[in-house]
This record gives sequence, structure tokens and C-alpha cells, in this order.
Amino acid sequence: MSHSPKISVIMHVLFLTLCSASLCCYAFTAQEYSDALEKSILFFEGQRSGKLPSNQRLKWRGNSGLSDGSSYHVDLVGGYYDAGDNVKFGLPMAFTTTLLAWSVIEFGDSMHGQIENARAAIRWSTDYFLKAATATPGTLYVQVADPNMDHHCWERPEDMDTPRNVYKVSAQNPGSDVAAETAAALAAASIVFRSSDPSYSSKLLQTAMKVFDFADRHRGSYSDALSSVVCPFYCSYSGYNDELLWGASWIHAASQNGSYLDYIRSNGHTLGADDDDYSFSWDDKRAGTKVLLSKSFLEKNTEEFQLYKAHSDNYICSLIPGTPSFQAQYTPGGLLYKGSASNLQYVTTSAFLLLTYSKYLNLNGGAVKCGTSTVTADKLISQAKKQIDYILGDNPAKMSYMVGFGERYPQRIHHRGSSVPSVHDHPDHIACNNGFQYLYSSSPNPNVLVGAIVGGPDSKDNFSDDRNNYQQSEPATYINAPFVGAVAFFSANTHTNQ
Ligand SMILES: *[C@@H]1O[C@H](CO)[C@@H](O)[C@H](O)[C@H]1NC(C)=O
Ligand SMILES: *[C@@H]1O[C@H](CO)[C@@H](O)[C@H](O)[C@H]1NC(C)=O
Repeated sequence: MSHSPKISVIMHVLFLTLCSASLCCYAFTAQEYSDALEKSILFFEGQRSGKLPSNQRLKWRGNSGLSDGSSYHVDLVGGYYDAGDNVKFGLPMAFTTTLLAWSVIEFGDSMHGQIENARAAIRWSTDYFLKAATATPGTLYVQVADPNMDHHCWERPEDMDTPRNVYKVSAQNPGSDVAAETAAALAAASIVFRSSDPSYSSKLLQTAMKVFDFADRHRGSYSDALSSVVCPFYCSYSGYNDELLWGASWIHAASQNGSYLDYIRSNGHTLGADDDDYSFSWDDKRAGTKVLLSKSFLEKNTEEFQLYKAHSDNYICSLIPGTPSFQAQYTPGGLLYKGSASNLQYVTTSAFLLLTYSKYLNLNGGAVKCGTSTVTADKLISQAKKQIDYILGDNPAKMSYMVGFGERYPQRIHHRGSSVPSVHDHPDHIACNNGFQYLYSSSPNPNVLVGAIVGGPDSKDNFSDDRNNYQQSEPATYINAPFVGAVAFFSANTHTNQ
């Protein structure tokens, strides 16, 4: 379906004309990427549960969930709401935290003035995970609130009066998926705090090892034990093998302890080391594990390195149009498209892996092998840049999918706190059913959830700025987390080729 040369010349001239009228040319400046970085981290303040600190910058939020855990005599105050509701789901919260930590580990040097805010965003969940992991021996608390009940209401977190049921995994009701992801989050975060707060770092790592041991010793999926409250919301569709290998890989990266290397060597093949998978998400960790392990084995040019590099290459090749193993779908405007629900989560995770892998490749002068063709590290960077720029507004709709960034951005996001008047403007309680008028209203949200990246447009680059279309208009912590690292990279590397 190639254009005739004549048409492409005309299009090129048209393009240049538009450019000179300064209607286009989305080469974002370093300043704009830095602005997006700051906002992408600020978003996490809007998702906070618990008692807000005096330095809270997102002012329209208030304290919430202050007695979470109390009916079970445990303190589960804190942590994050995953998206537009008021549930604290352990699996996506842990994945979010692992990816925020990985963002800082790889691209923290590019974060400049934002590094403290990034660490604070990580600590907000690791403080919670430390409580969830140590409150009751032999138990990991993995969720607060029944989503079925929560979703019956449209309430601000500050007004919540739905049951705050607490869910846990244990030897009898195992959850190796959620536990191993929590271990991964704690281990990755321990690397982040290693020099800034060594004692906190070592507490995180020790806890990670205990939680991983629990995950590995008592095998099972939390979707079996807790099916009615985790499915279909954050059902572990991919099972728990991927999280076990991912968790061990992060503890190995954090500790360099040989036991975890032995674990990876002896269990890798049964835990998915030989599989190819082309999505990386809160559910499926296989692609991310390959990339992480390709770095762990980078210096040692061993058989293992070849294994993890080959599978990392396969993942990358699947994303690069024109290579023999290309198998992704892109919208006409060039956005990676995996599915209608929260599609941008796959865009941000894949952009992050492209950049991280390009960094690893640059360490040893390597390139990606896609069948007979070779793909350079620079190509991975330009591929990632297209995706990040699309999110920020370089797209056919000329719309930024980050709230509060650029001139046009989503106004009616599917988010309870953002759409109902702030407790500071409207202190009276707004009950469960009374909130629905705000869900169905056509007015813009009164509270701007700055930095939130929404689910994003459809397969034709069309976006409906409609609160009821949660697939497109709902933000989520795991969409933002890998974006933080990716946009940090571009804030320091704007010279990169297009
Ligand atoms: C390495 O990890 C194993 C398993 O968690 C632990 O028993 C051992 O004490 C650790 N070794 C060191 C040196 O920390
Ligand atoms: C995109 O949305 C617009 C406005 O709703 C509509 O007119 C158009 O047909 C849509 N395009 C596609 C390809 O769906």
C-alpha cells in the first residue's frame, strides 16, 4: 500500500508548509519533557491513600482510609488507589512500585530536581508494603476494599463509607503472584534507597527476601483464593511463574546473593525463561524479566546471557515494523495498539523496555538481532520517542493524553476524586449515590489530576473524552510508572535523532 512518489512529494510539501506555519513539528524541548516528568510524578500524589503529609502538592485531595485494617487489628493505612476508584489492589500497586523503582535505577541520573519526588512516590507504597508484609507472621495483606461494593458508589476517597474489607494470602491460601511481585517491588526499591537511606534500603531487601521465600514455598495463584474480589479486576491471568522469576531476578539484582542466581539457574526453564511474550503489564512479567536478566548476565558472556538476550531481542523485534518477526499493531497515527482497555499501559511499558534495553546494548556495543536484520540501539530510542511524543500530543488528534500537559488534554477522566468537587470546596459529605450526577455530567472535572495518563485512543486514533468510557478515559498508576523513566530519559537526551 505504498503511496506513489508524486503523492508523497505533495504530502512532504504540505508537511513542510504546515511546519513553517508552526502548526506542527512536535520536537518537544528538554523543558517540555522535564515538565512532563514533573507532572508524571505529581500524579501519584492524587492517588495517595492515608494521611497526607504537610508537603502534599496536589492540594484538592484530603486524608482518606485512615482506619484501613483496623477491623482486623492491623495498620494498613497508606498506599495507592490503583486508578479511578478507591480500592487498594496489591498486585498492580506492587508492579507500579517495581516500575517506578526501575525508572529511577535506569534514568534517575536524568531526573535532576525530580529525584526526591520520585523517591517519595516509591516510599509511599513501600512504607505500606512493609506494614502489609510484617503485620502478621506468615501472612501478606494484599488488598483493602471489596471492588464490587466500591464500584456501587461514585464517592471521593475522603467520603468513603463502603466496607474496607481486608484480604490476605497465607500458607493455606497462597498467592505467589502477588507475593513475588511485592518482593520484586521491595527489592527494586532497596536499590533506589541504597545510598540515600541505607537502613531503609536494607529493611526493604530483608523483607523482600522473606516475602519471596513465602511466595516460593507456598505456591498458588491469589486468583484462586480471592477470586471474587480480585477477578476480573486484577485476576492473575498469566499465573505466578512469571512473578517468581521476576521476583528472584530483582532480589538478585539488589543483593548479588548467589542463592538467587542459583534459583534463577535451576528454576528459570520451568518459570518461563524460554517463553516469548509480547506484552509487559501488571499481569505478565516475562518480557521485563528477560530484559532485566540480559543485563544481569551482560558482563558474563555465558549461555544464560545468550538465552535472555535472544528472548529480549524477540520481544523488541515484535515491536519494530519491517523486521521479519514484527507482529505488533500500530494505529494509523503510529501508536502501539494492544487492546481497547487502557491501551497506553502497553505503550508506556514497551517504551520503557526499549530505552532500558538500548542502554544495556550500549554498554557492550551490542545490537538487536531480528532474523537476518540488525536493529541498533538508536533505532530503539527513536521507536520509544515516537510513542512518548504521541502521548504528549504529537498525534492525529493533536491531543495530549496526559492531564494538565499541553493545550488540549482529557477533561472528563474516569476518576472519582477528580470528578466530584473537592472536600475543600464542598466539605459536606457526598453520599454513595449522590456522586453519580458527577459521573454522568458533561462538564469538565473540577479537580485537575495533573500528570495522569489516561487509557488513550482507539485503534483509529480516536479518543472520546467521556467519563463513562473508562477504557479510554481512566488513568492508572501502572500507566504512569514506566512513563516516568522514559520521559526522564528524553528530558536529558533531546538531541536524539527522530
Ligand atoms: C543469601 O540469601 C539466602 C536466601 O535468602 C540467605 O539464607 C543467605 O543468608 C543470604 N546470604 C547473604 C550473604 O546475605
Ligand atoms: C472518529 O471520531 C469522529 C468523531 O466522533 C468520527 O466522526 C469519526 O468517524 C471517527 N473515526 C473513526 C475512524 O472511527
